[in-house]
Amino acid sequence: MQVRKLTRFWLLVAAAGPALMLGTSAVAQAPGPDERAAAALSKMTLDEKLQLVFGYFGSDWQGKKPPAAARYGSAGYVPGIPRLGITPQWQTDAGVGVATQGGAAVKRERTSLPSGIATAATWNPDIAFQGGRMIGSEARASGFNVMLAGGVNLARDPRNGRNFEYGGEDPLLAGTIVGSEIAGIQSNHIISTTKHYALNDLETGRKGHDVQIDPAAARISDLLAFQLAIERGDPGSVMCSYNKVHGDFACENDWLLNKVLKQDWGFKGFVMSDWGATHSTEKAALNGLDQESGWPFDDKAYFREPLKDAVTAGRVPQSRIDDMARRVLRALYATGAGDDPVAANAPIDYPVNEAVSQADAEQAIVLLKNQGNLLPLGPNVRRIVIVGGHADKGVLAGSGSSLVYPRGGNAVPGLEPTGWPGPVMYFPSSPLRELQRLAPNASVTFVEGNDPAAAAAAAKSADVAIVFATQWSSESIDVPMALDGNQNALIDAVASANPRTAVVLETNAGVAMPWAGGVAAIVEAWYPGVKGGSAIANVLTGRVNPSGHLPVTFYASEAQLPRPVRPGSKSEMDAFPLPYAEGAAVGYKWVDLKNLQPLFPFGHGLSYTTFAYGPISAAPAPDGGIRVRFTLRNTGKRQGMTVGQVYASSVRQAWEAPKRLVAFAKVNLAPGGSKTVSVNVDPRLLATFDEAAHAWRIAPGSYRLMLGASSRDPRSQTTLTLPGVTLPASWRPAQEAAGPAPRRGERGR
Ligand code: BGC
Repeated sequence: MQVRKLTRFWLLVAAAGPALMLGTSAVAQAPGPDERAAAALSKMTLDEKLQLVFGYFGSDWQGKKPPAAARYGSAGYVPGIPRLGITPQWQTDAGVGVATQGGAAVKRERTSLPSGIATAATWNPDIAFQGGRMIGSEARASGFNVMLAGGVNLARDPRNGRNFEYGGEDPLLAGTIVGSEIAGIQSNHIISTTKHYALNDLETGRKGHDVQIDPAAARISDLLAFQLAIERGDPGSVMCSYNKVHGDFACENDWLLNKVLKQDWGFKGFVMSDWGATHSTEKAALNGLDQESGWPFDDKAYFREPLKDAVTAGRVPQSRIDDMARRVLRALYATGAGDDPVAANAPIDYPVNEAVSQADAEQAIVLLKNQGNLLPLGPNVRRIVIVGGHADKGVLAGSGSSLVYPRGGNAVPGLEPTGWPGPVMYFPSSPLRELQRLAPNASVTFVEGNDPAAAAAAAKSADVAIVFATQWSSESIDVPMALDGNQNALIDAVASANPRTAVVLETNAGVAMPWAGGVAAIVEAWYPGVKGGSAIANVLTGRVNPSGHLPVTFYASEAQLPRPVRPGSKSEMDAFPLPYAEGAAVGYKWVDLKNLQPLFPFGHGLSYTTFAYGPISAAPAPDGGIRVRFTLRNTGKRQGMTVGQVYASSVRQAWEAPKRLVAFAKVNLAPGGSKTVSVNVDPRLLATFDEAAHAWRIAPGSYRLMLGASSRDPRSQTTLTLPGVTLPASWRPAQEAAGPAPRRGERGR
């Protein structure tokens, strides 16, 4: 450790140049990332600058091979500049771990976290940080110094095929969780990316649809999620998305890239394009794209010869190519990726990393219904019949570029589609085997779910029947808001035969549950990661008390959605206007506004114990926000965790919806125990965005703060009067107001 610190110090000093090395107060004058980027840039030729802003795909594609120095089967590669000590950028997907591109014959087998939406369901930034730290350490140990993680697109529609990669529907929750994951990844001295910026909320037509949204509504919904994640995680880069926004592709969109991200938010890192999302040279460079990624996915190598020509001819100013390269350099220095070399085959402690994934899954699983306390399975339960979902073999994962290949391989190989957007992957962590291990005195048997009548017959005389039901999803496709195949009929049949039926769901996001009233218990396990079977079995048997809460609304039917009929055909290439008329009224805000009764509301999640929420008190904070204090108490007989969720309503100012989540805290309580927590409410969560004034406006007047167990279960409340304040678009909270600071600087294991 000591040696590493010393080496790093001298590298820093050396990069700052000989003058500093001769000086007597080198420590006091250690240059920051801006100075170091400027110093490196001043030594670079135009060709070297251009080299930093052009990325190659890291795998074979349509007969084209990547440069030899790319890591095998990876997402991307940008060559380094050895004469200046500038490292190559080795880029890997994604948010749940180190992925391998589908086309690669040999896969890296690594540790997958639960899906991003699952981590959001923990409502626990510390779990997100630990998960990020773990996958970042595997990226580093696999030779990568850029991780294309940090997906924070809002869940505007439960049918978005990539919901599983993101942080749910609420800007505060998503921004906090994803920002913490980014900080965890970067604690390994590697760059994390946040993506897909912005409004890439449906996969149908993702390469052509044109999002229309009121800019002020975007500022308080999707853009706010990115803003909060960037403030908290400080990622070295942002990936612009495939879609268009207001007529311009996101990767050549002046409003998104220059105005909002760089000017208003002061983002100092670099913008990289999604793979195949660059469409021009001058427009893209001038409107804020800093690095073209994934060549040859684009039609042309826009940022190679054409950019050189444009700079030479003065169509793209020298100052702009300098800015592009400087941003890349700055990110390398700010994160430590530029100083701390990665090695391709460093050892990985898989059991330790799998425990991190399991801890995430155990806090992510949401107990949606538990009639008559069917769960946890007690010692009197002697005959358990498990049905369907390949629960004898493993747990489902989401697919696409983010898919991590697990140690032990696919537990259920050969399911269609086996090629892109597949393969369909089951991680080899069998809920059946884990339940058999945890309940040695019970008979735990399995029936396939293909034949509902046979499954019902097997389940009839069981003490408890547990149906595992799945919805597979992947990048580049959207999915119906439904379980796959005949699983609704299967659940109906089993529940009719045995009222003591529990359903365990492994889904992308919410699905319709026409059988919800007829089963005793429902557990949402999402895509639960490489130790998902163990996590599920621990929750079902009560070794772990469930503490997950929905990070998305579970709608009763597609008729409740802002767009009951999914727009477009099914192709990702489809081009069509996509109006987001609901504006910022996403998820619970939409159902509140329209007075709809969801199947399960945002924030919902049961426990095997009970909690009391309150009292709550609040006072205006000097920054225009609110300081809230509330008490949570465990009123039951088991240790358990709950989340205090604080929602605000503005009595005077018209918001997009009746209430917004403005603060939350997860606490762990012994039976009878209580905790009082204080949290700051960010003033932007109380504001509307005034486009004309280019400012956040918090209206003076009365506000109600409700503390609850979900968005539809308020338990105590208070009101306060705020003086009202206008904050510039560039406002950001002081460090201490941002909540518990992620542990940065500390290297992952
Ligand atoms: C995805 C990105 C991913 C990239 C590189 C794209 O298709 O949208 O999320 O990082 O590929 O694999």
